[in-house]
Formats: sequence, structure tokens, C-alpha cells
Amino acid sequence: MHSPWEAIRADLPARPVSPGVRTCNDYRPHALRIRRMILGSRCGRETAVASTYTRGSCRTDELPSLVELANLVFRGRRPGDMGREYPLVFEEPNLEQLRIARAGAEIVSHVGISIRDASVLGAPIRVASIGAVCTHPDHRGHGLASDLMDDAVAHSRAAGASLMLISGGRGLYHRLGYVEVGEFIATSAASLGPVSAEYDVAPIAPADVPGVIALHQTEPVRFLRSRSDWDKLIAAGRLMNQAADLLVVRCAGSLVAYAGVQPPAEGAPVVRARVREIGGSRSALAAALPAIAARFGATEADAVTLAWDREWEEQAAARGWTTTRVAFPGTLGVIDPERFLAAVRPLLDERSGGAVTLAAEGPGGVLTAAGETVRLETMGMLTALLFGGNTAEAGMLPPLSGGVRGALLGVLPLPLLWYGYNYV
Ligand SMILES: CC(C)(COP(=O)(O)OP(=O)(O)OC[C@H]1O[C@@H](n2cnc3c(N)ncnc32)[C@H](O)[C@@H]1OP(=O)(O)O)[C@@H](O)C(=O)NCCC(=O)NCCS
Repeated sequence: MHSPWEAIRADLPARPVSPGVRTCNDYRPHALRIRRMILGSRCGRETAVASTYTRGSCRTDELPSLVELANLVFRGRRPGDMGREYPLVFEEPNLEQLRIARAGAEIVSHVGISIRDASVLGAPIRVASIGAVCTHPDHRGHGLASDLMDDAVAHSRAAGASLMLISGGRGLYHRLGYVEVGEFIATSAASLGPVSAEYDVAPIAPADVPGVIALHQTEPVRFLRSRSDWDKLIAAGRLMNQAADLLVVRCAGSLVAYAGVQPPAEGAPVVRARVREIGGSRSALAAALPAIAARFGATEADAVTLAWDREWEEQAAARGWTTTRVAFPGTLGVIDPERFLAAVRPLLDERSGGAVTLAAEGPGGVLTAAGETVRLETMGMLTALLFGGNTAEAGMLPPLSGGVRGALLGVLPLPLLWYGYNYV
């Protein structure tokens, strides 16, 4: 007698020749069938998928094997340890957020979630960041990661999260409806000028931590970070999947800014320090950038900052640095429209004087503006309208009249969170 999983596997279409020609419909029916089976047999915290796979959250005694799987998949060809590099994911207090599938006693698939509160111009948003998504090579193509992604959404919604950020842009995520949207400023500082004597740049010392936290807390769009999160992240020495240094900038002895900086990429044609999180005074950071780069033996630097950051843009322009707009480095979706829209409603009201409203409807929403109503039928459309950007998916909206577009000016998009040290 075949297990239901074997029947589904036998029924799967042949692996497509070119990944470029796949469509959602190639796999969706199978993923749906698998999900239906799983949802149909849900019982309590641990879900029996079939005789072959079970699904649930990671147990304490399983954590080492889970890290082993993550290392096999992500650190097979380069050194490192996912457990140490991602302390907000692979830690005992986060076990419930480590969603896994097992074949017998072996962990074969994983979706890691880090749930943190964030502030978007004062709107309180709980964010589920997804990372370390992996399936053992012997168990791929059976819908395990797709299914665990759905499980992660249910788990995150139940924990109060309304926005999901995924540090990847694979077909898997697009098929599930997540989109590449949002806008950030990428600055390229090819000519840095001399090191300023006015600003002192040094690696963070334990005594600097409260000052850095205070600077971070003044940022208008940010993840909320407890002291314990800061301590773990500083100790891990990683920023957005790279080794990085957290540097502090002082002027006349006072801590005025900080920057999380990745060293120049190995083998890159240009030796360039890469700033991936900033906090505090933009004029100090811009003036200190030559000293920051010099710490890494670099004569150039680049930085990614948030799109609202006019002050940084001004500083860059004044120095002749070039800025371009880049999208979010991954995919995202508003997974609980009702909760998300309730959180940003005061902000939208303030911005539009009540002339623009957005109400949740199914996985998307209904926009009312300029006396017109526009239905955003999917999570992707709602997410694209909210965060905008210049990507193909940001443009996948229903037709908007000139009147609606005019009414949205200055109201949407909202600034999107940048991962920085919260990257998982
Ligand atoms: C990406 C990954 C997690 C997918 O795991 P999985 O359990 O095989 O995923 P699913 O079966 O749910 O389906 C997703 C993938 O399987 C493949 N797939 C799905 N249905 C399939 C089918 N019927 N036949 C053949 N292949 C199929 C697809 O290629 C799809 O990959 P894509 O995202 O590149 O389009 C796994 O391939 C992996 O561990 N890769 C290396 C790590 C990685 O890249 N992680 C993602 C970081 S962003």
C-alpha cells in the first residue's frame, strides 16, 4: 500500500528544463493537495502529515540537528555556523518559531521565523522575518518548504505579526504570493576625500552600547531591539549574512552616530566598505565615511539607507556621491491585512486628511480615494500599493485613475523597514 505522499510524488510533473519558464500553475495544484491533506489531519501542536513526514516546532534536543541541516545547506561551501551567526533564530527561546518537517526522527526541512516589533513612522507593526529556509537535498521537490511557509504564516499571525519579510526571492516565495517591492537609497561614494580630524571612528566597546541603543531608538523606521537582542547581535558580529563591524562615531568625545559595516567583498574589483545600517547624525556619518572606509583599507564605500532619509541624501549629494533606488533585498507580504491596516490607519489619516482609506478584504484590501473604490484582490497587490517601488511586482496593481493617483501622492507608499541587524 502506497502512502499518500508516494501517490502525490508519482503524480508530480517532470522537473522543468528551465527555471525561467515555470508558472505558479505548474506546482500549485500539488502544493494545494499536500496542504489540504495536512490541514485535514491537523491535531494540536504536532501535525501528522503522512507516515513519511511530520510537522511541528523544533524541540530543545533537536536544535543541534537543525543547525547541522542549516549548515549542510548554507555553509557547505563556505565556513561558518548558522547557529552562531543567527542568534535571533537558532536559540532556545525561539524554538516555537523554528518550524520543521521530520522524516521519522530526522529533521529534513525548516523555515525559521524571528518575530519582532517594529515602528514605521510611529505605527506599531509586528514583523515576522523568515530565514534559513532549507530542505535536505534528499527531500526536495515534495512541497515541504511550501507547506512550512504556510505553517509559518499561520504561526506568525497567531503571534500577532501582520507583515512578513523574507530574505530571499526564489520562485517558492513568489508562487506563494510574496513580492519584491519597496524602495531604499543606495549610495555609492567613489571619491571619499580626506579623513576628517573632527570625527573619531572606533569599534563599539561595551560602554558604548547604551549610547548606540539610544541613537537607534530615535530612528523613525526601525525594528525595536531589546538590550538582549543588541548583545546577541553584537556578539555574533554579523550583518545581513556577512561578517561586519559595528563602529561608533564620536565628535568632541560625544557618541553622535553608529554604522554597521561589512568589509570589502573578497575578490571584488573595487575595494569598498559596505555600510548596511546607520543610526544618529547623518552629517557626522557622511563626514566620518572616509575614516570608516580607511578602517577596512578601502578608498570607496557604499551604503544602503531608508528612502525617507532626506538628510543622508543631502549629505551624499553635497559630496558628489551618487544615489540610486533599490528594492527590498527579498520578498514580503502583508499577512494580516486587518491588523496591519489598523496599525497604519492613524498615519494614513494624518497624511490624507481622511481622503484615502484602506480596508482589509480577504488577503488584500479595498482602497477608497477620490470618490473611487479599487479592489486589491491579492496580498501582493496590497503589499505593492503600501510599499511601492520600481519593480515589476510593485507595478502589478489594478488600473488606478489619475484622480486616485493624485489622491495617493504623499500618502503612499509607506517607508519599508530595512533589515539591518535584524536580517535572518
Ligand atoms: C528552496 C528549498 C528550501 C525548497 O525546498 P523544497 O522542500 O524542495 O520546496 P518545495 O517542494 O515546497 O517547492 C519549492 C521548490 O521545489 C521545486 N519544486 C516544487 N514542486 C516541484 C515539482 N513538482 N517537481 C519538481 N520540483 C518542484 C521548485 O524548484 C521549487 O524551487 P524554486 O523556489 O526554485 O522554484 C530547497 O531547495 C533548499 O533547501 N535550497 C537551498 C537553500 C535555499 O536556497 N533556501 C532558500 C533561501 S532564500
